Amino acid sequence: MAAAATCIAVVALALAVLEPGARGLDRRADFPPGFLFGAATSSYQVEGAYLDDNKSLSNWDVYTHTQPGKIMDGRNADIADDHYHRYMDDVEIVHDLGVNSYRFSISWARIVPRGRLGEVNSAGIAFYNRLIDALLKKGIQPFVTLNHFDMPHELETRYGGWLGAGIREEFEYYTDVCFRAFGDRVRFWTTFNEPNLLVKFQFMLGKHPPNRCSPPFGSCSSGDSRREPYVAAHNVLLSHAAAVRNYRTNYQPEQGGSIGIVIAMKWYEPLTNSTEDVRAARRARSFEVDWFLDPIFFGDYPREMREMLSSDLPNFTSEEKKLLLNKVDFIGLNHYTTIYAKDCIYSPCDVGTYEGNALVYATGGNPQIGKPTAVGGYYVVPEGIEPAVMYVNHRYKNATIYITENGYSQHSSTNMVDLMSDVERVNYLKDYLTYLSSAVRKGANVGGYFVWSLVDNFEWLFGYTVRFGLYHVDFDTQVRTPRMSANWYRAFLTGDEVHEPRRADS
Ligand code: BGC
Repeated sequence: MAAAATCIAVVALALAVLEPGARGLDRRADFPPGFLFGAATSSYQVEGAYLDDNKSLSNWDVYTHTQPGKIMDGRNADIADDHYHRYMDDVEIVHDLGVNSYRFSISWARIVPRGRLGEVNSAGIAFYNRLIDALLKKGIQPFVTLNHFDMPHELETRYGGWLGAGIREEFEYYTDVCFRAFGDRVRFWTTFNEPNLLVKFQFMLGKHPPNRCSPPFGSCSSGDSRREPYVAAHNVLLSHAAAVRNYRTNYQPEQGGSIGIVIAMKWYEPLTNSTEDVRAARRARSFEVDWFLDPIFFGDYPREMREMLSSDLPNFTSEEKKLLLNKVDFIGLNHYTTIYAKDCIYSPCDVGTYEGNALVYATGGNPQIGKPTAVGGYYVVPEGIEPAVMYVNHRYKNATIYITENGYSQHSSTNMVDLMSDVERVNYLKDYLTYLSSAVRKGANVGGYFVWSLVDNFEWLFGYTVRFGLYHVDFDTQVRTPRMSANWYRAFLTGDEVHEPRRADS
């Protein structure tokens, strides 16, 4: 408690020295009425309670236990933020922010621990019922993700995760259970969080379970980095479409909610203005975003991908194309950064990276595109959110867009004063919101914005070495303390005087 009191004092002191800002674009009133403002988390990253109440082991439980060396600090999310037991307190801190929505994900292993072969876990259902009811009681809309990287380990073993076509029926079954149990109160559903990043981490770079890859992307014991990410993506897309068809047919007419998918989206700037680099940036976007959204909006993969991958990219049957078409009510975008794209077709470069199969090399550090953050490859480039949103707006028929994640990371090793007086995070959020509001003024149909994250949490391969939270978490005591950014967000949302922090570099 003493540590928490010190932190509060530090934040109060830091706020006191801030200069009052001019009323500018960064006001809630610059966004349309009904706009959702929120904060986000995901099940594996915050819940803990990994063995409680009949939950089965997820693929991440098993991965972090069997291969701790793959996680930067060797740790796991057995306890994480202990959100499963502290959810009522967490609803309070969500409410304290003044937001009207909270984005969280459901743990598949808690709801149907053994998939279609086993029972529905009533204790898991009861937990999310309690969470949803507590949020609604406070006037906070639940914004629910059905899959955020984790799945029951048993299903990963049985089907090879997203690689096996059998997983589609499993996902349809699991999501049906969720729509039936929670859909009377949930207005916003998303099927997948960042499937475009998920399948690359799992089957191209081999860094997430089930860790499959091949050179030049990595040296896993098995895998095919040129083919498997696209097979897994195919299964994800068809799983998504089947879940949306079921929701639209059996639940939406009565329940009246909406359903979308969340895509990870960087903005790619050409490294030079050469035609080759301009095309490389275009290609990188295609391999990142259009890869998942084109099939849903136009019934097939983008032309650039077909040209580059030929038969390594699966084909949709005409039935599947029909199933996919228009299967979203909105698009979620997780946007953190902008990066330069350099062509690797006409000049040699290292293609063993995330953009590799597009023959694009991405760099943000040389030359430096923006200030680096604690997560490698994530630079602060607020102006990039505007072209990113406009691109999706133009290409996908003025679809409603939610920014489902945007946030700033600090190294956990940073001193306590700077961890709490997180001026850089405040500036990051304020500046990204300013450019987002500019996209809205230019006609983009944006419905909401969520900060990643509500609280510091288990950051996948980084373990607890980096922190994204509006609230600092002491993982020994589980005490949550609002950072300066939490106080700034509250002031921004409630219309109190917004104090603009002095630039760290001014
Ligand atoms: C993921 C989050 C993650 C965040 C920060 C996103 O890719 O959806 O789970 O914590 O980025 O790295």
